[in-house]
Amino acid sequence: MRSLIRGGTVVSAEGASALDVLVEDERVVALAAGGSELAGSWQEGADRVLEAAGKYVIPGGIDAHTHMEMPFGGTMSADTFETGTRAAAWGGTTMIIDFAIQSKGQSLIAGMDAWQSKADGVCAVDYSFHAIISDVNESSLKEMDVLVEQGVTSFKLFMAYPGVFYATDREIFQAMDRAAGNGALIMMHAENGIAIDAIVAAALAKGQTDPIFHGLTRPAEMEGEAAHRAITLAQVAKAPLYIVHLSSEPALAAVVAARDRGQNTFAETCPQYLFLSEDDMARPGFEGAKFVCTPPLRPRHHQAALWRGLRTDDLSVVATDHCPFCFAEQKELGVGDFTKIPNGLPGVENRMDLIFQGVVAGEITLPRWVEVTSTNPAKMFGLYPKKGAIAPGSDADIVIYDPLATQTISAATHHMAVDYSCYEGMTITGHVDTVLSRGRQIIGGGAYTGEAGHGRFVTRQLCQRLG
Ligand code: URP
Ligand code: ZN
Ligand code: ZN
Repeated sequence: MRSLIRGGTVVSAEGASALDVLVEDERVVALAAGGSELAGSWQEGADRVLEAAGKYVIPGGIDAHTHMEMPFGGTMSADTFETGTRAAAWGGTTMIIDFAIQSKGQSLIAGMDAWQSKADGVCAVDYSFHAIISDVNESSLKEMDVLVEQGVTSFKLFMAYPGVFYATDREIFQAMDRAAGNGALIMMHAENGIAIDAIVAAALAKGQTDPIFHGLTRPAEMEGEAAHRAITLAQVAKAPLYIVHLSSEPALAAVVAARDRGQNTFAETCPQYLFLSEDDMARPGFEGAKFVCTPPLRPRHHQAALWRGLRTDDLSVVATDHCPFCFAEQKELGVGDFTKIPNGLPGVENRMDLIFQGVVAGEITLPRWVEVTSTNPAKMFGLYPKKGAIAPGSDADIVIYDPLATQTISAATHHMAVDYSCYEGMTITGHVDTVLSRGRQIIGGGAYTGEAGHGRFVTRQLCQRLG
């Protein structure tokens, strides 16, 4: 099967140029200047020609932080791997990296097997897993080596959620030390969960139960302190570190300082921290529960710092932390007690469009949009240039993006299995037109033409961003 994408502007992390793209079966085979003799010669043998005039042709988005079907707070995140990856496809994301959770008392491999069986045979787009280590012990440390050998090269630890996922500094250091030896990347949820628990208990004792107190009991300084501590532990362990869902200026300052002294420290932020704020958690009644995630949404002034971090590469990835819970029956578990609101927001479908608004507003350049949503996650998690690039030999995960179309985000039209949108009514510029996943058209003409089970598990190399 030969497909030709004709007349578009190919945008990469390096720049944008008028190029036609030739795809054969699952791979990109060649690029040539639009209108050139070579590109013209491809038309004859093409089984399919996709017209991309006036549109951007970009490598498919890679969302490096999702939680499909994740048990949390006595319930389960609402998207299955089937619905969540289909929604990802609608939004121009052609690969997700989800998290396989080690339960306490279980092995890392058992967690991986459990998540593999959730995803196997149902995904619309390719997928991979990070492993969450919730029980650091001699045998799980050894299992890290096994997973790295098997192409699972990143491990998340938590400084938050005492009694659930929380790891002590000793355990974190041990895992980092192991990662320094086996080349894995440690991903950190950086919040001082022990101190936050005390603040939460004091709030509840005062009868402060509304959703806004989720945010007010988790101050940004607690994220900054934890980020600094994680960075220091990683420095001593000589291990690379990637801070997930960075939301605030203090945490960003810790990352900037580490990077300025040459440490292999990286961070991601999420669209919710760039577009939403503490004010949303303070919406009247229980409405604020729709915006409860961890770390919490911050006062609006943090947003400018995060955009700056994206420009300077102190923040190198935008992922969603997609962890949807329906307002009815799931978020509502926390009526009268904010600690019972399941933590997490939907967003896998909205990421490419929302970050494109950063281009529209002049916060980031067009190539930087591609870099933080596709190329950097690919390099960070050992997928490049199979993913994150449109180059000969790369997987033909390609999005044709219409930069002039407008759309209004709404739960009534989104494809995530959740009954609300955090961005309800937001009118934006830009729209996914066509999506190819390994050469197969899965979105086009306003329809989903993919198939559950088309998405394959992808093994990964070690981090490709280390200095
Ligand atoms: O609120 C969030 N972020 N839920 C998902 C779990 C996590 O910490 O990433
Ligand atoms: Zn987290
Ligand atoms: Zn998460």
